[in-house]
Amino acid sequence: MTQETQPVTQDLSLEREAQVASFYKENTPPIRNFKGRDILLAEQFDRESLEILFHETSKMEELLKERKITDLLSPFILATLFYEPSTRTRLSFETSMVRLGGKVISESSVQFSSQMKGEVLEDTIRVVEECADVIALRHPKEGSAQKAADFAFIPIINAGDGGGQHPTQAFLDVYTIKKELGRLEDFTITMLGDLRFGRTVHSLTYLLLLFPNISLHFVAPAYLKMPEGILRFLERKGVEFSQTNQLDEKTYDSDVVYVTRVQEERIKEFDSFGPQRAELLKNSYQLPADFPKISKAIILHPLPRLNEIPPEVDQSPTAAFFRQSSYGIPIRMALLKLVLLGN
Ligand code: CP
Repeated sequence: MTQETQPVTQDLSLEREAQVASFYKENTPPIRNFKGRDILLAEQFDRESLEILFHETSKMEELLKERKITDLLSPFILATLFYEPSTRTRLSFETSMVRLGGKVISESSVQFSSQMKGEVLEDTIRVVEECADVIALRHPKEGSAQKAADFAFIPIINAGDGGGQHPTQAFLDVYTIKKELGRLEDFTITMLGDLRFGRTVHSLTYLLLLFPNISLHFVAPAYLKMPEGILRFLERKGVEFSQTNQLDEKTYDSDVVYVTRVQEERIKEFDSFGPQRAELLKNSYQLPADFPKISKAIILHPLPRLNEIPPEVDQSPTAAFFRQSSYGIPIRMALLKLVLLGN
């Protein structure tokens, strides 16, 4: 196991807060022209940059209806470096590149990577950037996408860094809410599940801050509550939020319920009681099978799911998680086009 694949042992909430603080200290302006930009954190985006991305995404949706392959990105190569398991993110990045006429090279397992021989991430990145024009990186360690970007001359897209962030997932989550509710303001969202290690809810929270009158409700077992750093950030921003450890009236009254699985792989590495704790937590919350009959809320989930949404829910019109997953392709097509060709 290399330095980059060591278990996460630091206090994530403090680390997260430091990351946010350092980002704002640098006062990086939000992305306007995407060409050549690294996509690392949700905080790089404001409403205008999201509008640019979503406008391009709508065009990609039209293109996808014809199920054709264009030559828009034919001169370019995408490298997907995935050092953690993935189905949706890796395949949708690769599909997106192929649909736009580009080529893909892939390292989809740390087991067959030179990282197994002890190579550090910086060296891997230096070599891969000679082979490709853009890199999508998934890595078990928080902050690794930023570290890769510090060394790379080509754009790095964060496809999930440990318990940190998963910005491209959050883009498609917000896009789904816009499609399903028809608005990006005046709604209540419940985030249910592993809010501590689940990186998608971290990125999503930062993006939702951009829109008016959104009430955030966090439902999680105490061990899995939203990191203090993010809660303190919400307080500083004056954003309304509430927390509890079980499904309550506010959950049922929400407009959106965003469910996440227990991140067993991270809990198991976090402390010596990890395996037992993960097993207990896995069965500690579940959306009731009759939830869609009682609540109007659209149900989202980044997937994969374990047992937190029973399959009986799937046929409900409000069960939007597979529609949500399908937006991963047009969102990532749009992002690749913008990063490689510009707006
Ligand atoms: N939502 C998500 O990141 O799924 P994968 O782990 O399958 O990529």
